[in-house]
Amino acid sequence: MSTQKSIKLSDYVEYPFLIPSIYLDFDIGTDYVVVQSSMIIKQKKKESSKLVLKGNQIKLLSISINGKELKFSEYSISDKSLIINSPPISEFELKIRSQIDPFRNTSLEGLYLSSGMLTTQCEAEGFRRICFHPDRPDVLSRYTVRIEADRTLYPILLSNGNKKYSGNLNSNNLRHEFIWEDPFPKPCYLFALVAGKLNSVSDTYITNTGRLIDIRIYVEKGDEKYTKHAFNSLKKAMKWDEDNYGLEYDLDEYKIVAVRHFNMGAMENKGLNIFNSKLVLADSKTATDNELERIESVIAHEYFHNWTGNRITCRDWFQLSLKEGLTVFRDQSFTSDLHSKGLKRIEDVSFLRNFQFAEDKGPTSHAVKPKEYVAIDNFYTTTIYEKGSELIRMLELLLGKEKFFRGINLYIKTFDGSAATTEDFINSLIKGAYLEEKNCPFDLDKFLNWYYKPGTPKVYINQSWDSKNSILNVSFEQKIDSDKTNENTEMVIPILYSCYSREKGANPIAENNLFVLDKNKKHLKINTLPGEKEAPVLSLFRCFSSPVVWESDLLIDDYLFLFLNDNDYFSRWDSGQYLMREILKTRLCNKNNLSLEYKFINAMKETIKSLEINDPFFLATLITIPGFAELESLFEKVDPIRIYRESIDFQVLIGNEILQELRVIAKNLFGKIDHEWPMGKGERKLLGTIWFYLSLAGDRDVQKNCVESISHSSMTISRAALGALKPLDNTLTEEASNLFYNLWKGNPVVLDSWFAYEASRPHKRGINVIEKLLSHPKFDWKAPNAIRAVLGGFSKNIDLFHSLDGQGYLFMADKLIEVDKINPITASRMVKVFSKWKTYIDKNKEGMYESLLKLNKSNISPNTREVVELILN
Ligand code: BES
Ligand code: ZN
Repeated sequence: MSTQKSIKLSDYVEYPFLIPSIYLDFDIGTDYVVVQSSMIIKQKKKESSKLVLKGNQIKLLSISINGKELKFSEYSISDKSLIINSPPISEFELKIRSQIDPFRNTSLEGLYLSSGMLTTQCEAEGFRRICFHPDRPDVLSRYTVRIEADRTLYPILLSNGNKKYSGNLNSNNLRHEFIWEDPFPKPCYLFALVAGKLNSVSDTYITNTGRLIDIRIYVEKGDEKYTKHAFNSLKKAMKWDEDNYGLEYDLDEYKIVAVRHFNMGAMENKGLNIFNSKLVLADSKTATDNELERIESVIAHEYFHNWTGNRITCRDWFQLSLKEGLTVFRDQSFTSDLHSKGLKRIEDVSFLRNFQFAEDKGPTSHAVKPKEYVAIDNFYTTTIYEKGSELIRMLELLLGKEKFFRGINLYIKTFDGSAATTEDFINSLIKGAYLEEKNCPFDLDKFLNWYYKPGTPKVYINQSWDSKNSILNVSFEQKIDSDKTNENTEMVIPILYSCYSREKGANPIAENNLFVLDKNKKHLKINTLPGEKEAPVLSLFRCFSSPVVWESDLLIDDYLFLFLNDNDYFSRWDSGQYLMREILKTRLCNKNNLSLEYKFINAMKETIKSLEINDPFFLATLITIPGFAELESLFEKVDPIRIYRESIDFQVLIGNEILQELRVIAKNLFGKIDHEWPMGKGERKLLGTIWFYLSLAGDRDVQKNCVESISHSSMTISRAALGALKPLDNTLTEEASNLFYNLWKGNPVVLDSWFAYEASRPHKRGINVIEKLLSHPKFDWKAPNAIRAVLGGFSKNIDLFHSLDGQGYLFMADKLIEVDKINPITASRMVKVFSKWKTYIDKNKEGMYESLLKLNKSNISPNTREVVELILN
């Protein structure tokens, strides 16, 4: 349990006041900013209640109601709030003049400075650093914003909505003003303001109903040339949402601002999205194919929030997955429609398994709908986001696309302009789909357990073959063990399955049937073809139909069969992953199973033959080993250094065994990699994968070729070359890294990838390397991207971070204590590198524990303390 006070879902009470409109006036000076707010307020009920407003590091200058200055006795003020004891019963105007200091605000919350420009971040609770306000998402208001500032220092002055006016100030023509109006009521976390020297690039979009939208991207001078990809992505997202969800953009302008100093990836402020510059500025010379695809999806994600998040918002922060889970689901569907459904699914599942499953197993495990929290910033997690999205995907599967969209439409119609709950969403969905809740074919209460229970359910599968009747009997059992209450929780687990006859090659007997496991135990009877002698091969959880782990009695040969024959992208990939997990598990238990290793490598060779030209992206995905976090999760006692070494050894073996085949393909790939994304991305990925294996296997020609490719015009190729040289730690690695640095030292976004490379690559020079990176002249302590590059990179440097003397951990703890002083949000996210301490072998466990104690004894922020205490307990 936390030593700090927590907020509970069960304590929710409606805010007793409405604030239909807010007028905000910003007077930007050289040392501080004067903010004047004027709020129209009315009590919801007839009886009077106290008016409680939040405020953080705001200096109050004056306060009045209906033009009358308040006496000291009429309000009380603390460092966290301002309370007006008995406000008028009838509608009144509350005017507050106050002063804030954005120039010394390093938290990157509220109003702050980034590379000379002023910018805001209000989600989740940053608005209270700008002015006194309830600062909760269920208070919706119409905003009008006036900004005045020096014309040369701040030529661009932006806020949400449409521009109403701009002009010079008569009294003093060094200053100018802008007035912005947002006609849509919104919660304050969607408020945004940007002021500074920015250049803009513009484009237009015409909606399906013929409305012309002005779209504009604001960047620092010189970065204009990197906005094309973001524009294309935005226009695709706007079109997709109209075509698929019937949702059209609602303002006349859509603006995106790129900022260097940003805690998160991007923020969906109404009509004025603010983006981490690394998620806007990109072309195929500066960003990899993966990064370009990520940017496309983040731009879409923030755009999609305009409906799922902004027009319909969250009642309170316990409902966070209402907007984030749903919007992740929407951005995943978007990417999957634009590119490849099968490959996108593999990518998303791989992410989920490596990060969300790991979170579910560890000390910060929580439900998609948590019951309590200390700092809401700590709840922007992969469970809220990616598991939240999985729940909606299951609903889409259970309802079918047509009914699902009927449900979504009803939800949007019903809750437009209001603040809703996840239960509102589910109820609308079911009502829209089946007209009445009672018609729902599955048990809704059991489905809701997905929202309320933490942990990853496990499903056990056993088959028995009835050869006389050619029937395959399958029994399923579900268990969810993170549930400490020991009650018998049942979930609704949709299982898509197919069956393959061994005799008749790859023809499925039953294809993509849906079985719903909604009890602890349930049986399935599969009729195969009459006369079928042998039991068929069962392909389960196709498309990864539910976010569970499972254990079945399938045999190694079954997995080999599926790895070669399954026609579901996910299941085919997963069979290979299963086999590789088995191989690595065996190796790490000091046993060997050479026959399995060679069987698998032969299957790899066969796959290479059959897939080489057709589907290079898929082939590369199939022959890549499971992620490190996934491997860690296989063991009761984790030895990170050994896992790393065994996985390298296994990859050396693969490289050596399929050397000839890989060399031939690599040759054929040249000449096919010089296309603009997305064209050629499969060839580039496959080439990168092959380079990695061949370089590991000691192929000097490939290694030299990699060094030469650092200056290739495609960043994907350049970074693939770096990646292939990474494990070697020899002079070629050094040379490649220097070449890369010299090419990109002028571009901070690209340089971050160099910082991450240097911090994460194995080298014998010890921890000094990390210290040096942190004091490198190009390293910026105030930029979370840079901190994440170096410290995040360091945490993936297995030998260094996990060194048995515990020095790596202590170093990390010291640095995080420093980061926490200037930026608690970034520190508390990064401190999760210590989450798995209890699962490690004793040496590592003790080292991590000591570092956690050190953090705990230090004077750290409430945010970081919450995470440290959870991890320690
Ligand atoms: N609303 C969030 C951004 C946010 C989260 C701001 C928490 C402040 C605190 C935004 O919509 C978001 O989810 N961004 C993600 C990227 C997205 C594609 C999943 C992010 O910033 O990582
Ligand atoms: Zn989001």
